[in-house]
Amino acid sequence: MSKEAEIILDGKSYKFPVIEGSEGEMAIDIAKLRDLTGYVTLDTGYKNTGATKSAITFLDGEKGILRYRGYPIEQLASKASFLEVSYLLIYGELPTTSQLEIFKDRIMKHTNLHEDIKKIFDGFPSSAHPMGVLSSAVSSLTAYYPGSIDQNANDEEVDLTIVRLMAKLPTIAAWSYRNSKGQPLMYPKPKLGYCENFLYMMFGHPNEDFTLDPVVVEALNTLFILHADHEQNCSTSTVRIVGSAHASLYSSIAAGINALWGPLHGGANQEVIEMLEEIQASGISTKDYIAKVKTKEVRLMGFGHRVYKNFDPRANIIKKACDDILNKLGVNDPALAIAKELEQAALSDPYFVERKLYPNVDFYSGIIYKALGLRSDLFTVMFAIGRLPGWIAQWKELRDAKEPIGRPRQIYTGYTERDYVSIEKRK
Ligand code: MLT
Repeated sequence: MSKEAEIILDGKSYKFPVIEGSEGEMAIDIAKLRDLTGYVTLDTGYKNTGATKSAITFLDGEKGILRYRGYPIEQLASKASFLEVSYLLIYGELPTTSQLEIFKDRIMKHTNLHEDIKKIFDGFPSSAHPMGVLSSAVSSLTAYYPGSIDQNANDEEVDLTIVRLMAKLPTIAAWSYRNSKGQPLMYPKPKLGYCENFLYMMFGHPNEDFTLDPVVVEALNTLFILHADHEQNCSTSTVRIVGSAHASLYSSIAAGINALWGPLHGGANQEVIEMLEEIQASGISTKDYIAKVKTKEVRLMGFGHRVYKNFDPRANIIKKACDDILNKLGVNDPALAIAKELEQAALSDPYFVERKLYPNVDFYSGIIYKALGLRSDLFTVMFAIGRLPGWIAQWKELRDAKEPIGRPRQIYTGYTERDYVSIEKRK
């Protein structure tokens, strides 16, 4: 492998160091490109541009590999708890029993919200999309915890902000949901586990005992782990670039939530279930639907990925979990059968194979969320709760590395200099 790259510009040769990652990824370090040559690189959508060096998540899209801090996603999804994986992502190592206990206790102790935050929920129409409410409420935490905006806060203070956010996001999600339905808000039960407490706040009732179904708890734990981090995706890049201005963690995460809401990003899981329900309602065959996809009349949501040119390993795990969970819950959802037919039809069709289009994490996750009794506009909120420890780890990594503010260059293609024309002279 070459240790340096040569660029010849205007007949002059320039050498740039080549950087190699711990998994053999190669990059040309162009930090001095503009100073030396006056040129910048242009890579719309950053398809070929590394924004940072990171030690959190490794992803090989060609081989369908995903590892958090070196641990394969398959092992973590089947063996670990979500808080264990959260600790791994944020602090870099799997916790010992006592470290996990302390982490869980600290988080569960902070699950309550300031009573005034209810006024924010009341300010939204009940039809508001929960992702908009979620980002607004997270941003409002800067007001209840003003110390969180101090860019010189010490590590202990930053760690308390991290723990508070891990603790409060599920409560915010559950309270905004119940508020939108006019249901009484359920206060957190710190003695419960992270997933259990969230389900209790979502579906519990003040005058009834609440029974937690271990199948549902396990399903949520798995889905949260699978969504926990995915290196430099759009919402994580957003969190990092906002964080690079030394904005608070709450503001950076609120920005990440808004990015994730986009239908090309986390919002895709809601789009998938709505697509499957439309197919079911229209009665169109999956064969005919696939034909319409190829003529670009309709989109096949949940298929294809910027980085995976192979199976998204998360989709494989979720697909297996789908059958298991729906059987255990005794749910017979025609959407699952349609999803499997679509997948089979696509995977045996050269049109998709040639374009390396495979089901991604959003294709099957919606079917499980639906079986857990969640409205489709809440699916992306689930994604956000799962993604939170990854966003936090990325924000912390950037902050600890003292990375400079993110400020890309551009190539201006607009009008060259021209003089102001007074209004009466304009045609
Ligand atoms: C994600 O997990 O964030 C999505 O798969 C999108 C991505 O990685 O670009």
